[in-house]
Amino acid sequence: PTPIVLDVDTGVDDALALLFAAAHPELELLGVSCVAGNAGLERVVDNTLRVLALAGADHVPVAAGAVRPLIEPARDAGHVHGADGLGGLVLPPATRAAEPDRAIELLRRVILEHPVPVTLVALAPQTNLALLLRTHPEVADNLARIVFMGGSASGGNATAVAEFNVWHDPEAASVVLGAGVPLAMYGLDVFERVSVAEHVAARLAASTDARTAAVGRLLGTRIRTPDGELPHLGWIGDAGAVCGIVAPELLRVERLPVRVELGGHARGQTVVDRRAHPGEDAFHGTAPGWVEVDVALEVDAERMVELFLG
Ligand code: BDR
Ligand code: CA
Repeated sequence: PTPIVLDVDTGVDDALALLFAAAHPELELLGVSCVAGNAGLERVVDNTLRVLALAGADHVPVAAGAVRPLIEPARDAGHVHGADGLGGLVLPPATRAAEPDRAIELLRRVILEHPVPVTLVALAPQTNLALLLRTHPEVADNLARIVFMGGSASGGNATAVAEFNVWHDPEAASVVLGAGVPLAMYGLDVFERVSVAEHVAARLAASTDARTAAVGRLLGTRIRTPDGELPHLGWIGDAGAVCGIVAPELLRVERLPVRVELGGHARGQTVVDRRAHPGEDAFHGTAPGWVEVDVALEVDAERMVELFLG
């Protein structure tokens, strides 16, 4: 199995990713670190512990990390994930606490102690990752790669051009991009493509198996906007980034120059240079700040849903 650690801001679709990762035989989930994002840190930690208990994964260590982005204030996404971060899904209380270590210490230990290189999967704002790579840069030597849900090669969701995870802490994303670790981006271009039909989610939600019912309920979570609830989306979201590790053949990936915008109206945008040749600016992602990233541009959504639902 592929050894992975997950960094999460649980979060409806982070919960789906945790349930998938804990159950899949080709993944070895070594640890989970939590960060403020979709909800406040305490809520994220509690949600993560509850979800892992549901997954039968109480042996997987969980640690609390950054309470807010490096520079920005914390701004949760209650309109997407509900005030509780899980769209109103009520799970039994956790029967254990998080590790006494903070996230960067847990990540350092788990990554360096593992006999083979570990894949670090970021499904949240990248504050913990930036702090880890700045505090313990030696972890990079035992990372196979960083797979992150974040960014977009097209439009944004938090703003017209910025995706939530990168927008929430653009400086952190910029640090991670520059860390010299191989990077794979699972951005909005694919994130918003993989959905489970409403009748399927409803059937799962009616299951007598608690885990299956929770997956159905999470998939049925409605996003609220000032104009009212959106129709059923059924996105597996963050879970898709984990599915792509198990089945890379489901993604069409291109290695492309990427940079994170830090200023002005485009703050938090991932600019992806998709040109085949340099243009009027006479370079193709070769100026400082550009980093080569394996960007997922297309996904076989039908097969990914099959993989996710098992
Ligand atoms: C990302 O933000 C959160 O709402 C999701 O969990 C996902 O990680 C999508 O922009
Ligand atoms: Ca997330």
